[in-house]
Amino acid sequence: MANKNPIIAALDVPTVEQALRLAEQLAPAVGAFKIGKELFVSAGPDIVKRVRATGASVFLDLKFHDIPHTVAKAVAAAVRLDVQMLTIHTSGGSEMMRAAEKSAQDTAKSLGLSAPLVLGVTVLTSMDSNALAEIGCAPNVGRHVERLATLAANSGLRGLVCSPLEIADLRGILPAEIQLVTPGIRTGAEKADDQKRTLTPREAMAAGASWLVIGRPIYAAENPRAAAEKILATLV
Ligand code: C5P
Repeated sequence: MANKNPIIAALDVPTVEQALRLAEQLAPAVGAFKIGKELFVSAGPDIVKRVRATGASVFLDLKFHDIPHTVAKAVAAAVRLDVQMLTIHTSGGSEMMRAAEKSAQDTAKSLGLSAPLVLGVTVLTSMDSNALAEIGCAPNVGRHVERLATLAANSGLRGLVCSPLEIADLRGILPAEIQLVTPGIRTGAEKADDQKRTLTPREAMAAGASWLVIGRPIYAAENPRAAAEKILATLV
């Protein structure tokens, strides 16, 4: 999918009504909407179709992690919902990643659709070196991110989710065509919250991001549409 507008607005709101109101308001000003676990589990798969009906692309962020067969089936179901991006955990291993990518390609082809971008999630930003050591990994977050990112690229994935502070390092080691999607974006105008290591939209794009996932700076703004337009204006 082409990303003339790299803003992915996270629909991190609890109800269908709020999500649809936001989506209708924001559709002309953003490149895609992210639907995460809370909204998907409470609203059901129909929410994807209803958001797609605004004309916008959908990023289904359910972070699949299971045996290859099960992930392939879940990816196929997501393709049938007509999502344009979705996430899987790279720690599921190369066989799982290959199965996910193949399922995305094959299912899309059989339906006459473009294959969605299957994005690999590396190390969750909630994990530090102690948490990695606890699960038996070498206690170095940066190294583990690089290792999983390289494995993802070698397993055929065409994109990854990463923290804004990982973009530059990953751009140094990954093929240029790999798309990098980054949350942790702050403009500087909003209240402090739980995001600790952030970049501005412009900084993240300059570092090599392909897409920016932006939640509160847009949906919690007094005028979400104006907030999205203001961010977009900083990128041209
Ligand atoms: O409101 P905010 O802009 O922080 O929202 C960022 C979105 O990206 C949320 O949906 C959040 O769950 C997601 N995310 C994140 N950091 C990660 C992975 C995902 O903020 N490391």
